[in-house]
Amino acid sequence: MANLSQETSAPWRIGILFSRTGFMSVIEETQYQGTLLAVEEINAAGGVCGRELVPVAYDPGSDSLAYGHYAKRLMIEDEVSTIFGCYTSSSRKAVLPVVERLNGLLWYPTLYEGFEASPNVIYTGASPNQNSLALCRHLMDNYGSRFYFVGSDYIYPRESNRVMRELLKANGGSVVGERYVSVHARWQDFLPIIQDIRRIRPDVIFSTVVGEGTVYLYQAYANVGIDPRRMPIASLTTTEAEIAAMGFDVGEGHITAASYFQGIEGSANSAFVRQFKKRYGSDVSTNMCAEASYFQLRLFAKALEQANSLDTEVLRAMVFGTSYDAPQGAVTVNPMSGHTDLWTRIGRANRQGQFDIINQSQEAVHADPFLIGYGRATAQAGHAQ
Ligand code: ACM
Repeated sequence: MANLSQETSAPWRIGILFSRTGFMSVIEETQYQGTLLAVEEINAAGGVCGRELVPVAYDPGSDSLAYGHYAKRLMIEDEVSTIFGCYTSSSRKAVLPVVERLNGLLWYPTLYEGFEASPNVIYTGASPNQNSLALCRHLMDNYGSRFYFVGSDYIYPRESNRVMRELLKANGGSVVGERYVSVHARWQDFLPIIQDIRRIRPDVIFSTVVGEGTVYLYQAYANVGIDPRRMPIASLTTTEAEIAAMGFDVGEGHITAASYFQGIEGSANSAFVRQFKKRYGSDVSTNMCAEASYFQLRLFAKALEQANSLDTEVLRAMVFGTSYDAPQGAVTVNPMSGHTDLWTRIGRANRQGQFDIINQSQEAVHADPFLIGYGRATAQAGHAQ
C-alpha cells in the first residue's frame, strides 16, 4: 500500500462515496460538494505534510448495497484505507463489515439513530442525545404531546422513532400514529397518510422521511392546507437542501433540529458559506450534512498532519480528541466513542428557505450514542447538556 508510506511525495489517496444520482442525491450531492471544497482548500494551501489529497470517488446511485461493493473496491483495488461517505444508515451498515474486515476508516457525516460504535468509523453527524432530545422537549413545550410518526422504511427511521417513543412515554406524551413508506415513495403515496393525519389530528408530525420523499411529504401536506403554526412537521433530516427542492413556501413554518444551519453566526461559518457559494453558485445553500462533510475532511487533515500516515491505527490515535473550529462552532472527536461532540440547535424554516434559529445549546454537547448519561428512560428529555 504505497500511499501509507511516510517517506514519499506521492499524493494521499482518499475514498469518497456519496450518491450523486438517484433519490438520495438531493442531499448527498451537497455532501460530495462539502467534501470536495475541503479537499480543494487543503490542496490550495499546500496539501498535508506537503502532499496533495487525491480523491477516488464513486457514485453508488442511491443503492445501499452498492456502497458495500464500492467500499470493497476502494480498499482492495484502489488501495485506499480512508473513506468519506454515506448518508443513509443502511448504506453505512453495508460499508461497516468492509472497513471492519479490512481495517479501514469510514468518516460518516450524517445524523443517525445511535446505538453503534465501531473502531473503524468516525461519526461526525448527530446521534439522538444531540438532536432528538431537544426536539422532543421543544415540541412538547410548544405544540403538545400527541405525536404522529411518518418515516421512510429502513433502519434509521424505525430506530429513531423507537428513541422518540421512549422520550415521549417518559415525559407523558404518546404516539398516535406510525406509518412508513418506501424510500422510493412518490407524491401519491403520502396522500393516505395526510388523510390519516387530518382524521387523527395529532399535535405534531415527526418525520423521518429522507431524500426525495421529503419533498413529496411536505408538498402533500401543503396541498391540503394544514397550518404549520398549529401542527408542524418536525424533523431531524429536513435541511436547506430538501427545502429548496420542495419550494420555500412549502417548507415555511416547519421545524428541524440540527447541529448546523446556514444562518448561524460566526466567522468560521461566514467563510464556509462564502466559499461554498463561490464554488457552487450563489443560489445554493449550505446545510448540516454539507457542513459535517466539510469539517470532517478538515479534521482528518489536521490529524493526518500529526500522523503523517494513513495507517488506520496511527491515524485514529491522532483523530481521537482532535478539535476543529467548524462552521457550527468548535467540535471534538470524543475518544470514548469515536463520535463527535456537536452543537444542538432548533430551527424553523422561513420564506427564504433558511432556518430561523429558535433554540441552541451553549456549547458542543457530548456525544452519547447509547444514551448512557440519560438513562434508558431519558427522563430529562431535551436538556441540551
Ligand atoms: C440516516 O439514515 N442516518 C439519516
